[in-house]
Amino acid sequence: MRGAGVPYRLTVLGTGYLGATHAACMAELGFEVLGLDVDPDKIARLQRGESPIWEPGLETLLRKHVGSGRLRFTTSYEEAAAFGDVHFVCVGTPQKQGEFAADVSFLDQVVDSLAPHLDRGCLVVGKSTVPVGTAQRLAARLRELAGDHVELAWNPEFLREGFAVDDTLHPDRIVLGVTSPKAEMILREVYAPLGDVPIVVTDFPTAELVKSAANAFLATKISFINAMAEVCEATQADVKLLSKALSYDERIGGRFLNPGLGFGGGCLPKDIRAFMARADELGADQALSFLREVDAINMRRRARMVDLARDMVGGSFRNRVVGVLGAAFKPNSDDIRDSPALDVAVKIGQEGGAVTVYDPVALDNARKTQPTLGYAQSALDACRDADVVLLLTEWQEFVDLSPHALGEVVAVRNIVDGRNALDAPTWREAGWIYRALGRPQ
Ligand code: UDX
Repeated sequence: MRGAGVPYRLTVLGTGYLGATHAACMAELGFEVLGLDVDPDKIARLQRGESPIWEPGLETLLRKHVGSGRLRFTTSYEEAAAFGDVHFVCVGTPQKQGEFAADVSFLDQVVDSLAPHLDRGCLVVGKSTVPVGTAQRLAARLRELAGDHVELAWNPEFLREGFAVDDTLHPDRIVLGVTSPKAEMILREVYAPLGDVPIVVTDFPTAELVKSAANAFLATKISFINAMAEVCEATQADVKLLSKALSYDERIGGRFLNPGLGFGGGCLPKDIRAFMARADELGADQALSFLREVDAINMRRRARMVDLARDMVGGSFRNRVVGVLGAAFKPNSDDIRDSPALDVAVKIGQEGGAVTVYDPVALDNARKTQPTLGYAQSALDACRDADVVLLLTEWQEFVDLSPHALGEVVAVRNIVDGRNALDAPTWREAGWIYRALGRPQ
């Protein structure tokens, strides 16, 4: 194994949102990196320096380091095992079909495929979000298949989509779940080029739990303000002003306190459910029963959005045209996994509304999963002849829309701002009926 002045060679196993970003960023930090995925098409694209996802700054880094030769890709575990001193495992842990629990089978597959080829000392580092206890189980499996010269560490990743490159190169903190000083030393060396970042060294279960706890906290904060929005709706109070007033309290802070359609994406929803399922297995279900409410509040926002829109078109979507702005689960991403925007669009379509969706980058992904919805190539086209316009993902392009220009193409100037992103007085002055979640009419 290299080290002590000779840089480690890194592999990244799984090249999805997390892995593709991690591979490119580790190359940017100066390492030789080999990325692996079982999907040959994805590997072919990456090998050409093309990003498999829309993520600001990622393709630039991929091109740069594929070009420099520092970053390569493969589908061969044998090659990865021969190349790497440190193997980062970055595969997905999606929600199981019909259950709350996480499906960790991709992790098992990585360990089972890699371990038999590991014939020299190396460190395997899990980055995926997992149910607590997974690392200990995988460490035993690794030892069984590869022997004592191979060690496991757990190093959760906290990157946000849309800011993935920046978050990876400038993390808030690094958590190292290790069982030996050697593993800690190797990871400290790997992350040394990041500079002065707080490092918290823990055991396996704590490292796993930090990630689950962080996502549970963020989801709770969003659902808290959305619960306040429900109360505001019942009293004609304004949740946006409420949130602003709360945010000046330093103990509370304003981040993740934006009321609206709530959270979606590939992480928060499935991670809080997996956390509850794991707590259940551990007999600690009561500790996390509040997350059930967090989830329920979040899902109620989507239903409330549909209700508001239906209200604005006279009580039924039949023969009504609905323009939907946004398909991605949040701006600056083409990710539509568990997207609140797409969920609302589909529900309205199911109620008979003629829905046309526009999103700056997520249209292809949306069309693949929801082929029955209508799609347009611009915001104005999506809203042509609309009886109501719904802003469901707060892309800057939508915030910058002119209410006058949009007013020219719609049938009726009705808008529901699902993200509390627009300036209500400006829209009302331009003749729109403006409604938003948690705001007075
Ligand atoms: C999240 C965590 O932030 C990240 O640390 C973890 O590694 C993965 O999960 P991400 O899924 O990329 O990251 O999105 P995030 O920016 O957290 O937003 C999640 C959802 O919450 C989005 O749908 C967003 O629209 C919504 N949200 C966020 C709100 O509704 N209100 C807010 O105030 C903030």
